[in-house]
Amino acid sequence: MKKINVAVAGLGRIGKIHLKNLCRNFSEIEVVAVMDVFNESKLIADEFNIPVFVIDFDELLAVPDLDVVVICSPTDTHADYVVKAAKAGKQIFCEKPLDLSLDRVKEVLEIVNESGVKLMLGFNRRFDPEFKKIRQLVVNDAIGDPQIIKITSRDPGPPPVSYIKVSGGMFLDMTIHDFDMARYISGKQVKEVYAKGAVMVDPEIGKAGDIDTAIITLTFEDGTMAVIDNCRKAVYGYDQRLEVFGSKGMAQAENNFPNNHKLYTAAGVSGDLPLHFFLERYDASYNQEIREFIDAIVSGSKMPVDGNDGLLSIAIGLAAKKSIQENRPVPLSEVL
Ligand SMILES: NC(=O)c1ccc[n+]([C@@H]2O[C@H](COP(=O)([O-])OP(=O)(O)OC[C@H]3O[C@@H](n4cnc5c(N)ncnc54)[C@H](O)[C@@H]3O)[C@@H](O)[C@H]2O)c1
Repeated sequence: MKKINVAVAGLGRIGKIHLKNLCRNFSEIEVVAVMDVFNESKLIADEFNIPVFVIDFDELLAVPDLDVVVICSPTDTHADYVVKAAKAGKQIFCEKPLDLSLDRVKEVLEIVNESGVKLMLGFNRRFDPEFKKIRQLVVNDAIGDPQIIKITSRDPGPPPVSYIKVSGGMFLDMTIHDFDMARYISGKQVKEVYAKGAVMVDPEIGKAGDIDTAIITLTFEDGTMAVIDNCRKAVYGYDQRLEVFGSKGMAQAENNFPNNHKLYTAAGVSGDLPLHFFLERYDASYNQEIREFIDAIVSGSKMPVDGNDGLLSIAIGLAAKKSIQENRPVPLSEVL
């Protein structure tokens, strides 16, 4: 069988993870080309024995027999690259978010639909083994009718302010994963968003027009509620917990640790801190995410996370921003 020819654009933190997984784990594909605007990234191409390295996206699309493009470049390139790849007839995986403007996202999705190519968005947490099990418990009715979803999502430290300025802010860069997780776990649509936010970690983040600490309440169409708590800095590391409470019980996913053993002494009980950040904590999820993307291409089935999921998570983020600005609950229909 002919191998599927894949290219990766953007070889930063997330690009390197996807490249590593694509190169090491799939016999049915071949990574034939990579692209990054920085010439120095050719070293990464060499490390993984990728035959073609280019610094221009059009050149990447012109690589003969290319089937799939995995877009891992900065957020402000996603929409343009997705449009170009769709018009060139390539299957697309794109990191979140698709764009910071809902109008632009709608425009891009229309072009993707017209082109007939498949598009998957990079909401990797859906593929985390623990979170997948919790979703399965909900689907299997082990918890009964979900009533409250609680998501704790705190980073070990904030990114540079220069990154914050171009990221779309905490809701569109960080909480967007939690918005998608709440939708995924419940399997329901969000009706209303109410958010409170503050600057408690670094005043420079406030000066850049963003917040670093927040609580967001989502109300779903059937009345189910989700509470998300975020902070850009947790001194004990990456805090990623999930709980679903329902009419028949409750399911919880705790943090993941490098070691699960504890030391008990006269001074107290101690153990490891949680896995430090997303590269470590979600390692398995990135691998499974790309696995399911490739499987969907091979089998011709529906993408596990599609353009509409991308659009809705951005809409919830914009509604959360509006909620803070106007200090009121915002119906999702107001921003959609
Ligand atoms: N799903 C996740 O868990 C996750 C995690 C991190 C980042 N992301 C997303 O992935 C994207 C990249 O984030 P990152 O943390 O890897 O950033 P990064 O800064 O580490 O890497 C970005 C890379 O893109 C390259 N680049 C810059 N301009 C480019 C262009 N015009 N075309 C192609 N490449 C270009 C840079 O040289 C760099 O190598 C962002 O959109 C971010 O939101 C997702």
